[in-house]
Amino acid sequence: MANQLVLVLDFGGQYKELIARRVRECRVASEIKPGRTSLSEIKKISPIGIILTGGPDSVYRDGSPRCDAGLFDLGIPVLGICYGMQLIAYTLGGEVSPCVSSEYGRTKMTIEPASPIFSGLASLPQIGLMSHTDQVTKLPDGFTSTAFTQTCTNAAMANENRRIYATQFHPEVENTPNGTAMIRNFLYNVCGAVGDYDIAGYRARMVAELRAQVGDEHVLLGLSGGVDSSVCAALLAEAIPGHVHCIFVDHGLMRQNEGAEIDAAFRNRVDFHPVDAEMRFLSKLEGVSDPETKRKIIGEEFVRVFEDEAKKLKKQYGTIRFLAQGTIYPDVVESGANESATIKSHHNVGGLPKDMTFTELVEPLRGLFKDEVRALGRELGLPKSLTERQPFPGPGLAVRIIGDITKEKADTLRQADAIFREKVDKGKLKRRPDQYFAVLTDTKSVGVMGDFRTHGYTIALRAVYTTDFMTCEYSELSPAILRGASKEIVNNVRGVSRVVYDVTDKPPATIEWE
Ligand code: XMP
Repeated sequence: MANQLVLVLDFGGQYKELIARRVRECRVASEIKPGRTSLSEIKKISPIGIILTGGPDSVYRDGSPRCDAGLFDLGIPVLGICYGMQLIAYTLGGEVSPCVSSEYGRTKMTIEPASPIFSGLASLPQIGLMSHTDQVTKLPDGFTSTAFTQTCTNAAMANENRRIYATQFHPEVENTPNGTAMIRNFLYNVCGAVGDYDIAGYRARMVAELRAQVGDEHVLLGLSGGVDSSVCAALLAEAIPGHVHCIFVDHGLMRQNEGAEIDAAFRNRVDFHPVDAEMRFLSKLEGVSDPETKRKIIGEEFVRVFEDEAKKLKKQYGTIRFLAQGTIYPDVVESGANESATIKSHHNVGGLPKDMTFTELVEPLRGLFKDEVRALGRELGLPKSLTERQPFPGPGLAVRIIGDITKEKADTLRQADAIFREKVDKGKLKRRPDQYFAVLTDTKSVGVMGDFRTHGYTIALRAVYTTDFMTCEYSELSPAILRGASKEIVNNVRGVSRVVYDVTDKPPATIEWE
């Protein structure tokens, strides 16, 4: 039986995915659709509740995103957030006007604890994250105000008879400490949720769907060792054992022990084809210093190696019609392609051969957010080194070796990087960086070891906090970690005489050095 589902209608806010995730954390399935989704489609989906997201526009501006007024007559409970609240007020005959003074940030508010979405919460002090320049200045008929701040008389509103609720603040963000409780209240007190969504259920449903889709045919998967392709492989292995063929191209620019870890995790789960292509890649890269050229060469060579391997498999199994991909929900939402996905370029570096004869994509992670993919990986018994793996660029260490690449440089960087990562992993930290690694710069500097002067490479260490990898802040690591890493690297890694720490945010810098 299908899960109960909450529909998140998107009006351009930056938190739509966060809303959908919060709903799932409350054990209710959720799906994001554009704000303009038709009433007939909504009826077909038959959600138990609808959440209208925030958005940057003003509802009273011509051309701003609107919804069909009939949405509020479907008898389905609605929760409007920020712009979503203003949209409800505007559509149902209230008034929305610019704020006298805009409210941004954590704001104290008084709530009406008798309102079902605030049930169980004290009226004071509540904190809500506000971020608005417009507000509801006249409530629509039948609505009452259920929260206020110093400058916003309608920080929340409700029409209990019609089961329509709204908040001017953002309950989905961490800066609203009781926000998840409010969303849970909406789901369970208003929408009648039963809590039938969890990762174990997703796993069981996907296994059944994969069996139905693939039958007794075969599936090919390019395994990179990243979280998504690894979890995809493990799920396929459970669903259609003996029918999953994974190609793992080791371009020789992986981190220390990475190839062996992937090998150990998959050798006994799937028909695993590791390809040691180190020499092939390094010879193509010889003398190349330009980062984009490196990326291009690696991307093209990846396709060649994959093709060669796939041909061998074809001889054994005949034509393989199915190609599996680790596409995840944010890829689906961002591309707006809910129906037909295009083949995602592998590793972001090249893309799979255009002329291969796959006729059907298998994308069992299409419904999951990244943290759910990790949870599913844990459920499937994958090791932590894979499920908690930090992002690693497709071209690997090639973009962390400044200038031309040699095997010696790759080995040097691998050692330094492993030492630094271990120090961070074992160090005392308030918050673990989201990505951390070493870079081999092309700068040599003078050092002194014993009575000898040395002239070795400079290693740069980089550790950043980020959620979206579009921006980042450098992590303030403790002196113990930095000094410990520096000492161990210079003492143990031949050819390195100096270690520096990168203290640049993005922007203006990027996360990788190349
Ligand atoms: P930048 O350096 O652009 O990195 O701030 C943002 C994120 O993207 C990763 N990255 C790559 N990933 N192929 C990839 O698959 C690449 O060529 C590539 N370059 C950067 C980077 O590690 C970070 O997570």
